[in-house]
Amino acid sequence: MASERLSIIPQPVSIERMSGAFVLTPQTAVLTDSANTANGRYLQALFSLANNPDGLAIHLNLNEALKPWGDEGYRLEITTEAVRITAVTTTGIFYGIQTLRQLLPAGQKTGTIPCLLIEDKPRFSWRGFMLDEGRHFQGKTSVLRLLDAMALLKLNRFHWHLTEDQGWRLEIKQYPRLTAVGAQRAGTAPGMIAMVRGKHNGVPHGGFYTQDEVREVVAYAAERHITVVPEIEMPGHSTAALVAYPELGCTGGPYEMPTRFGIFKDVYCVGKDHTITFLEHVLAEVLALFPSPYIHIGGDEAPRSRWQKCPDCQKRIADNNLGDEHGLQLYLTNHMARFLRDNGRSLIGWNEILNADLEPSAVAQYWVRNRKGMIAAIENGRSAILSPNWHYYLDYSYSLTALSKTYNHEPVFSELSQSAAKNILGIEAPLWTEFVPTAKRMGYQAFPRLTAVAETAWTPAAQKELVSFRERLPAFLNQLDEIGLTYAPLTEIEPAKLKQKLGIFSMIRP
Ligand code: ACM
Ligand code: ZN
Repeated sequence: MASERLSIIPQPVSIERMSGAFVLTPQTAVLTDSANTANGRYLQALFSLANNPDGLAIHLNLNEALKPWGDEGYRLEITTEAVRITAVTTTGIFYGIQTLRQLLPAGQKTGTIPCLLIEDKPRFSWRGFMLDEGRHFQGKTSVLRLLDAMALLKLNRFHWHLTEDQGWRLEIKQYPRLTAVGAQRAGTAPGMIAMVRGKHNGVPHGGFYTQDEVREVVAYAAERHITVVPEIEMPGHSTAALVAYPELGCTGGPYEMPTRFGIFKDVYCVGKDHTITFLEHVLAEVLALFPSPYIHIGGDEAPRSRWQKCPDCQKRIADNNLGDEHGLQLYLTNHMARFLRDNGRSLIGWNEILNADLEPSAVAQYWVRNRKGMIAAIENGRSAILSPNWHYYLDYSYSLTALSKTYNHEPVFSELSQSAAKNILGIEAPLWTEFVPTAKRMGYQAFPRLTAVAETAWTPAAQKELVSFRERLPAFLNQLDEIGLTYAPLTEIEPAKLKQKLGIFSMIRP
């Protein structure tokens, strides 16, 4: 019986250790069935295998017998003679490979792997990470590295927040001003105090993804069995689009690119037909770029004050018996939900979209407030993704949200009936980037907390254990070093109790 500790994150459902070891060498072969040729190539590249047909082999095979382990489950059997990964789908095989990777130290391509049998499957089907690129454009290199880390963690949804007040980051061919004008700003308020004082640093900030770059990111993610879910915010958090095309707003502008953060009262005018048409045209290009079954339309933090004074918005409310401005947002959300449904996709919005008359196909993503409304909606059959801000917002300081607080959180509302809990697709950790100007800062905020979210997303709740997780963590941090991602030092992720109590005063910075 091998005695060394296995450091796998997320912790697999079942591990049975056996004596002996498989010796991985450059001569190890990879033998796959026809469905797994891509997985085979990926594995070969990962360990730089020469693929000697006479060597001992790693076998990748689909097997219907694994059905009890679900669509994403897998079985990894390691004997002295062979490594065998079996699963019902190529995704399951891919996850078996991710577990195999973690049985060797990061970056090591040869070595002994202890004999064992792992049988494994995820708790949730939605295991997400969100990156806000509107506030600070991080760029393709950072995104690809994040996708690499997500693959290791068996996370499968990259929610890409691409439009914001402070920056529109996605090339739209029909509306070139969105990026020609809306992707640049004159400066950035570098912290809360500067923001309150209305000051910015005078350093221009900008950037956007061309459609070719988006296709590259989507393909890179797909190779890692990750779906890229784009978010095009509406009706709020849309100042950059209004600056580019002022006719989309209630007042017609002029508008200015914001250099500070917050909630802005200028939002899309839902009373004007050409605004709705614009949004449909933008979404049409988005649909062509992103094969995701889900498209996110934001929907959070949309002030009503412009709509209250806009004749077009008031006419829309009156003509359609919408009641008030809440009804007007519902009108927009339902219009887009039907538009997406007619194109074979489902809408996701933040929990502000909840309403008794919301289209049944729309998915609500919980982040803050209205816990009761969220629970009632889930009980009534609404599909949900859970991103509770106090536990899963990766932009919060470690004083406020220590690693253990993220790890120990049970995301499923305790009040939910067992049958309704099935409507929870899963969980997701957002990283908002108001105060995340660099790749180094991005890594610091995201890691290691994202590993805690990943374990909650995958491992059965009853099997989670903080002490074991902390023991397994250093090996994973070495993997991040290999990928080129930074992380918060272990000395900073569990601040002293006093600092945690004062954490509320350091919402963003540690
Ligand atoms: C959000 O944090 N405004 C969804
Ligand atoms: Zn209006």
